[in-house]
Amino acid sequence: MTDGDGVSGYLSGRAALAGVMGWPVGHSLSPRLHGFWLRQHRIDGAYVPLAVEPDRLEQALRALPALGFRGVNLTIPHKEPALALVDRTTPAAARIGAVNTVIVGQDGLLGDNTDGYGFIASLAAGARGWEAGAGPAVLLGAGGAARAIAVALIDAGVLELRLVNRTPARAETLAAQLADAARERGAALTVLPWQDEDALAGASLLVNTTSLGMSGQPPLEIDLAPLPAQALVADIVYSPLETGLLAGARARGHPVVDGLGMLLHQARPGFRAWFGVAPEVTDALRATVLAGLG
Ligand code: ATR
Repeated sequence: MTDGDGVSGYLSGRAALAGVMGWPVGHSLSPRLHGFWLRQHRIDGAYVPLAVEPDRLEQALRALPALGFRGVNLTIPHKEPALALVDRTTPAAARIGAVNTVIVGQDGLLGDNTDGYGFIASLAAGARGWEAGAGPAVLLGAGGAARAIAVALIDAGVLELRLVNRTPARAETLAAQLADAARERGAALTVLPWQDEDALAGASLLVNTTSLGMSGQPPLEIDLAPLPAQALVADIVYSPLETGLLAGARARGHPVVDGLGMLLHQARPGFRAWFGVAPEVTDALRATVLAGLG
C-alpha cells in the first residue's frame, strides 16, 4: 500500500479499475487524488497512470472494456483527439470540444468534460457570494482551458464575457466557437487586445487560463488598478498555488480562488461514475494533492 498514490491496498479480482491516460503522464496528480478517495471510502479499486502515446490513443481507449476498466481521465495531449474516438459525447464535451472523462458503458464509451463544472464548483466553494450575473467576466487566454471555462461561465449565466489573448486570432476563433451558446443565453462576447486598459473596467470576475505565472513560465504582468474592488480573481495555475496574480489581487483586497479547486472538483463526476460514491473536496484532500506538487 502506498501513501498518497493510486493503489488503495490489495485488490480483489473484482476491483473496480480506472486511470488517467496522458503522454507524458508522470506529472499527473490524478492518481494521488483518486487514490485518496479510494482509501477514504475503502473501495476495492485502483486508479492508475497510463502512459499512452498519441497515435495509440484509439487502441488504448478501445481496450478499456476488454480490460474491465470502468473508465479513464484524459490529459494532455489526448483531450481533443478523444472527441472523435468515443462512441457518444455529453453536451458539455461537444461544446467544449474536448473529453477529460471517459465512462465505459453497456453501449460503448461515453466522453464527458467536467473541467467547466470543476471551475464553477471551485468558485462556489472558494468564494462565497460570487454571482454570475453580477458583472462582466474577463478571461485571459484562448486555449482548451479557456474554452471549458467560457462554456461554463455562459451556462452559469454570465451576461458579458471578455476574451483577452496574446494572439488575438485565437480569441476570435474561440469567440466564434462560443457564439451559438452565447446567443442562446443572451450573453455578449467581446474580444479585447492583450493588455487593453479597458478590459478590467467594471468586471466582477477575472480568470487567468494562460500558463503565465506557472513555475518555469514568465510571470503574468497585469495592472489590476482598473478592476473593481469586489471583483473575484481566479487563476487556474496551481503550481505555485499562490501565483503572482493571486498575490497581487489579495494585496489589493480582492477575493481570490486558486487553481487547485478546479483540479479537485473536475475529478468528482468521474469518481462517482466509476466507483459509485460521490466524493467530497476536503482540506485533507487538498493537503494530500498539494504534497504531490513537491
Ligand atoms: P490549454 O489548452 O492548456 O489552455 P494552450 O492551448 O497551450 O493551453 O493555451 C495556452 C494559453 O496561454 C494561450 O492563451 C496562450 O496565448 P497564445 O494563444 O497567444 O499562445 C497563453 N500564453 C502562453 N504563453 C504566453 C505568454 N508568454 N504571453 C501571453 N500569453 C501566453
